[in-house]
Parts: sequence; C-alpha cells; structure tokens
Amino acid sequence: MTTQMIREVAQESAAQRIDSALAAVEQTMLNVVKSDVEVLRDASTHILAAGGKRVRPRLMMLMYLALGGEDIAYAAAPAAAIELMHTASVVHDDINDHGIMRRGRPSVNAIWGRTFALLTGDFLFTSVYQLMAPYKDLNIMLARAATALVEGETLQAHAVKTNTFTREAYARIISLKTAALFQSAGEIGARLANATPEQIEAAATYAFNIGMAFQIVDDILDIVGDEAKLGKTAGIDIEQGRGFVVANSDASSNPADIVDNIKQKLMSGDYLQEARQQAEAFVNMAIACLDALPPSPYRDELIALAELVVKRDH
Ligand code: IPE
Ligand code: IPE
Ligand code: MG
Ligand code: MG
Repeated sequence: MTTQMIREVAQESAAQRIDSALAAVEQTMLNVVKSDVEVLRDASTHILAAGGKRVRPRLMMLMYLALGGEDIAYAAAPAAAIELMHTASVVHDDINDHGIMRRGRPSVNAIWGRTFALLTGDFLFTSVYQLMAPYKDLNIMLARAATALVEGETLQAHAVKTNTFTREAYARIISLKTAALFQSAGEIGARLANATPEQIEAAATYAFNIGMAFQIVDDILDIVGDEAKLGKTAGIDIEQGRGFVVANSDASSNPADIVDNIKQKLMSGDYLQEARQQAEAFVNMAIACLDALPPSPYRDELIALAELVVKRDH
C-alpha cells in the first residue's frame, strides 16, 4: 500500500470509530431518561430525539480518541452527561427566553407548558448525577461547569434587568454560561484518556476557546441567521436585551422602535464584523493548543470542528 492508501484506510476507520462513539452516546442518553413518569419520559425523549449538533460530546470523544483513549463504552457516559447538561440548559433557557422552537421542533415549554418544562430540565440535570456517579474525580469538572452555567445565566438576567450589559459583562457571561461546559468536555476527554498534565491543560484551553467562539457566533446568528435553518426561535436575544452591546440612540421609548434602532445599527455598523473577528481569534487560539496532541485523524477532526464553529449557519 502507498502512504496515501494507508492514510485513507486510517481515516476511514477513524470515521467509523467516531460514528460508533457518538452512537453509544445517543443510546446512553435515551436509556437514562426512561422515567416511569410519562411527562418526563416523553418531554425528554422529544428534545433528545430532535437531534441537535452534538458538538460537546463530539468534542469530548475526539479529544479522548486523539489522546489515545480506546474504551468507547467507558467514555460514552461522561459524554452523554455533558450533552444532557447542555440539553437541560436549553430546555430551561427556552422558558426564560420565551423560545417556542428548538431543534426544529416546538420547544418543551411550547408543548407541555412552563411547569413541566422546568421539571423536565431538572430531570435532565439529575440524570447527569446518575451517569457520573462511577467517575469519581471527573464529577468535579462537571459540577464546576454546572455552577458556571447557572452563574452565567443569572449574571445575564441581572445585567439585562439593571441595564448594565457592558462588553466586559458580555465576555464574563459567555465564558460562564457556554465556554465553561465546553472546557469541561475537553478536560474530561483528556483526563479519561490519561493524558499528561500539559495535554489536559491544552485540551481544556482548546475547548474553552471553542466555547467562546461558539457563543459569539450563536449571537451573530440570532441576528442574521435563518430561523428555519437554525431550528430555534431567533431574534429574541437582541429583542430582549441580551447578545451584543449596542447603545440605543432612538429617542423613542416604544420597545419596537428601540429594537429596530439597535438592529439597524448592528446590521449597518462594524459590530458584526468585529464579533466575527473575535470569534475567529478564539478559534485560532483553540487550534494552536492542538500542537500539544500527537498528529492523528482525530486531531484533524478537532481542527475541522474548530473551523466549523465560525463557518456554520446553524
Ligand atoms: C445552543 O447550543 C445554546 C448555546 C450555548 C449557544 P447548540 O447550538 O449546541 O444547540 P444544539 O444542541 O445544537 O441544539
Ligand atoms: C445559551 O444561551 C443557553 C445556555 C448556555 C444556557 P442562548 O439563549 O444564547 O441560546 P439559544 O440561542 O437560545 O440557543
Ligand atoms: Mg438565553
Ligand atoms: Mg435562548
């Protein structure tokens, strides 16, 4: 076989391993939400079966495989736990943000109402405990991410309420509400693979930077994205005073005028361009961290994942 052929075979088997790793994550998630309580089971299955990009478990699994991890069944539970924590957060997020569409389907609150959406989110959070129980120290990473997520969402709600949504606040909020969970995915993947302390640090930093870029792009897409492609209610973050920090110069106190004014500013000015550049900078920092990993098809996939974060349209 030529070197090129060997490479192709390696890539193909790597692709198969990634597919089976993600299939194991899906199965683990569906198994753990089988409650005897119908509403919890149905609503959880509704939001999980709707799909989603599965970026966080993919990142975790790629990191695990790139650092020499081989036991997919063992790594599947923490990856599922990370995705379940994320899913819980979007179920609760849609209550807070009045989102009526999620992952291309009506949101849990749109179908079952606020009370059951709240409880479904709680149930998804508690399923994380169940999955993580055997993983001892790794629980610490996920617990930290859970705390950060709640802190970020709370700081955001507070900043909106008190009209103190500054650029500094925005950076702090997204690092807590989004990047911390990404970071835990990178770190857990590396720790599961028994990586060196330097590699664990690199994996965590890679994933944190991906998380920052991911949320910035999410906020851009909230303004310029296509709702059908996004599969979720768009335009609400800017409308409800989250997302980017833009001063309102409209003398009107009519909420619709104010939103129009801010939207126009965003579209016409350099704001979106600047945000894109920031996202790209985070992605470049992330990719640089991957020098600490040995070359492999999995590392190539981590680079591709980073690039996709800024190129994505949903
Ligand atoms: C949406 O996350 C919430 C953010 C942190 C931006 P995703 O864009 O990963 O949502 P799904 O899982 O693909 O639906
Ligand atoms: C992300 O916030 C949700 C969490 C990180 C908890 P957003 O409100 O920006 O997410 P989308 O745009 O509704 O997915
Ligand atoms: Mg929100
Ligand atoms: Mg939202």
